[in-house]
Amino acid sequence: MIDKPIIILAIESSCDETSASVIVDGIVKSNIVAGQEVHSIYGGVVPEYASRAHQLHIVPVIHQSLSEAGVTQDQLSAIAYTKGPGLLGALLVGHSFAKGMAMGLGIPLIGVNHMQAHILAHFIDEPKPEFPFLCLTVSGGHTQLVWVKSVLEFEIIGETNDDAVGEAFDKAAKTLGLGYPGGPLVDKYAKLGNPKAYKFPIPEVEDFNFSFSGIKTAFLYFAREKGPEFIQENIADVCASVQYTLVEMLMKKLIKAAKHLNTKQIAIAGGVSANSGLRTRLQVEAQKQGWQVFIPAFEYCTDNAAMVAITAHFLYQNKQFSSLHDSPMPRLHLNS
Ligand code: KG4
Ligand code: ZN
Repeated sequence: MIDKPIIILAIESSCDETSASVIVDGIVKSNIVAGQEVHSIYGGVVPEYASRAHQLHIVPVIHQSLSEAGVTQDQLSAIAYTKGPGLLGALLVGHSFAKGMAMGLGIPLIGVNHMQAHILAHFIDEPKPEFPFLCLTVSGGHTQLVWVKSVLEFEIIGETNDDAVGEAFDKAAKTLGLGYPGGPLVDKYAKLGNPKAYKFPIPEVEDFNFSFSGIKTAFLYFAREKGPEFIQENIADVCASVQYTLVEMLMKKLIKAAKHLNTKQIAIAGGVSANSGLRTRLQVEAQKQGWQVFIPAFEYCTDNAAMVAITAHFLYQNKQFSSLHDSPMPRLHLNS
């Protein structure tokens, strides 16, 4: 008898992207992402507007995802959704929709941890890391060094004591008068500038942990001292220097943790892994240290449902289903 394929529809709605993906036997067949323009004029994500935009986008995004994959609802084996961490109102939209579909179709529901999904995005395409490997997870809400022992076993080696590095990029961009989301804009201007033009202090932080609150303030004081005209005229050099500083802060701890764990299997994940400075710096360090590095394709760095789908595939194989009574958890920990 031929086994039925495992076909999962996954929904991601933790922040400001509404995304749906279909995965068939571990192969991603579609990954549709709808962004939310509404936040740009506010210089940051407005939670209530995020929930409303998810409600607006979710049906067309799911339809497109199913049709691009050539899959009908009655073929689905399970529905997956992002359980957390994220914005409660945003998570609730994906959760309610997934729960409704799972109940209606009489198939299992799978709640997925968003931070695990960022890491497991490395298992969508080749080359895939071998276990164990060290992953630097860098997003808008998290900065973590994770020792990944298997698809379902994660140990946090270090993390930020305060802000996430994505937040530092976004705040720096706001301070410099750039738009939102700031990370990609800092990256864009940084490509044209001198990373050593301005020097910012790199704080000493214990063990494998990070701190970005001080550097955020340093960027603010720098911008205030220089004034908007100077910043505008020197935007490329300023962005290059900001980016250089943030990347060095990440690399310092990544190198330390890799040495401590005696590993050469290094991965990066999350929105900030789209940063060109970090990607280049990692390749340079790989040459020096003899690392094998794993950098996700751009579409799997920032929030997307394909990473939720691959995680759900592993959970399905492990028969780890969610109860229909589960609730989304805005502060869900990596290991829960
Ligand atoms: O993983 P993600 O899409 O959402 C969260 O889970 O938070 O990460 C979003 C973060 C934002 O802070 C955004 O500015 C940052 O990733 N980001 C970047 C780049 N692309 C996205 N930061 C620096 N350079 C980029 N190219
Ligand atoms: Zn994310």
